[in-house]
Amino acid sequence: MAPHIAAGSVPSPRMSRSSRSKSSHRWLREHFADPYVKKAQAAGLRSRAAFKLEELLERDRLLKPGMVVVDLGAAPGGWSQYVRQALGDGGRVLALDILEMPPLAGVEFLHGDFREDAVLSELETLLEGRPVDLVLSDMAPNMSGMDAVDQPRAMHLAELALEFADTHLRPGGAFLIKLFQGVGFDDYVRQLRRRYEKVAIRKPAASRKRSPEVYALGQGKLARMK
Ligand SMILES: C[S@@+](CC[C@H](N)C(=O)[O-])C[C@H]1O[C@@H](n2cnc3c(N)ncnc32)[C@H](O)[C@@H]1O
Repeated sequence: MAPHIAAGSVPSPRMSRSSRSKSSHRWLREHFADPYVKKAQAAGLRSRAAFKLEELLERDRLLKPGMVVVDLGAAPGGWSQYVRQALGDGGRVLALDILEMPPLAGVEFLHGDFREDAVLSELETLLEGRPVDLVLSDMAPNMSGMDAVDQPRAMHLAELALEFADTHLRPGGAFLIKLFQGVGFDDYVRQLRRRYEKVAIRKPAASRKRSPEVYALGQGKLARMK
């Protein structure tokens, strides 16, 4: 997985070349020593992120045969790969990313920027009006290292994912989203609580401790907001 996902480890644009190279060496050292990276490679998984999803979904047995699952921010494909395997032959997995993703059997991939209306429309066309059972979002913007820039960008993506779930997730369905703790986080969780019967904030074991990322899981989408 690209280094840009671990907010804390990313060189800031103001870093000198030598501190940037020290930071990227540290990232590479940590990456190759990481037990989840080794486990992912041994299991033929595209990313260590699959272990986060496994922990987050297994606990509540959220994946059921025949489900329609949308995976926002899917590249390089660890989550989609996990979901596809868990669903077996049936159901649908629709994956979207601003980056290209090598094809995965049984996963419909849409290449585009989720912030663009045209890309959202393409995703809606693929859905053919069928309600979604589970919306996943692991989207994270390219981190600059400056919280005042990164946090609003991350929250904007989270707001768009929430709107998507408002429109396309079936009542009773579940929404799992990566959030970064910081400005806007508490308000976002309040918004989730108005929309879902049950909301939990989780930090899976595979999520790096120094990353401010956590996952919010809303279960039981309400037919009407509280
Ligand atoms: C942490 S990675 C996802 C890892 C993925 N869940 C996996 O298991 O392999 C975050 C992804 O969000 C994507 N992303 C960021 N901004 C996006 C946007 N505006 N539209 C679509 N994808 C975006 C990035 O390109 C990146 O691939």
